[in-house]
Amino acid sequence: MTNAVEIDHLSKDYGKLRALDNIILSVPQGAIYGLVGPNGAGKTTLIKTLVGTLKPTTGSVKVLGLDPLQDKWKLRKHIGYMPQTAALYDDLSAKKNILFFGAAQNVPDLEKKADDILAFAELTDRGNDLVRTFSGGMKKRVSLCCALIHQPKIVFLDEPTAAIDPHLKIESWNLFRKLAKSGVTLFISTHLMDEALLCDKVTILGNGKIIAVDTPQKLLERGKTKLKYSENGEVKESILDSTPESLANELQKLGLNQNITSISLQPDNIENIVLGIIGEKQNSESTG
Ligand SMILES: Nc1ncnc2c1ncn2[C@@H]1O[C@H](COP(=O)(O)OP(=O)(O)OP(=O)(O)O)[C@@H](O)[C@H]1O
Ligand SMILES: [Mg+2]
Repeated sequence: MTNAVEIDHLSKDYGKLRALDNIILSVPQGAIYGLVGPNGAGKTTLIKTLVGTLKPTTGSVKVLGLDPLQDKWKLRKHIGYMPQTAALYDDLSAKKNILFFGAAQNVPDLEKKADDILAFAELTDRGNDLVRTFSGGMKKRVSLCCALIHQPKIVFLDEPTAAIDPHLKIESWNLFRKLAKSGVTLFISTHLMDEALLCDKVTILGNGKIIAVDTPQKLLERGKTKLKYSENGEVKESILDSTPESLANELQKLGLNQNITSISLQPDNIENIVLGIIGEKQNSESTG
């Protein structure tokens, strides 16, 4: 099966600034793929080259086997794109925006689909209000509806859940998971490191370079775990690797010791781990 995304030695310069540096990446179909990195890492630039709104300086990208610039019209109906800043018509209602994007893609049974997706985004009551009267998070939700209305095979979501409240964030991730199960590929950028844990695979981007590509589980294992236990009433602490083997070894030793009355584990949080990986890589590069 063709990969959903194939990126080959891609670099992108804005004048003297190298925003993407020699990116090589393959994304299989039907997965939730996370692009994680701090502000300015190059996430939006990468997504823009994939949806054909930016031309690579060198290298090439393929989406569903096609070139996003040369095959723009062929790809259009298969790609959904939610930009980081909602690109909506402020003087149209939420529903009219969705109908506009749907009609541009010749979506059959459009009225009903628009109503269904508005209901999912919990915007039914506000469907006929002008978008300019909406909050930032509500605009994001309309923008997500517009990206999904034509049931694309691959969706590029640039920070889809930034400024979305926790309840709707969970709902959004439930929807993303459902879409992935039905074979849709989701390529999601986020600077929220905890969202990396919800993806099938994660690419960490730092300063335009790929720092790591891994599953969330393996990323967590790169962290440390603080182990606290009470031995004869005295609280003791040690720091362990977070791999299952090292945790199991240590717990087995403690479990066999009758003087131990309590044990607790506190793993590194993903934010520290990701920032640590980025820092290590950048240090090793600057010291040669
Ligand atoms: N149109 C542009 N002209 C010049 N420089 C740009 C342009 N767009 C982005 N950049 C620069 O390219 C780098 C990458 O920016 P990009 O927007 O891709 O990062 P990002 O990871 O999406 O960040 P954020 O989390 O803030 O959205 C930054 O240094 C940014 O200043
Ligand atoms: Mg961005």
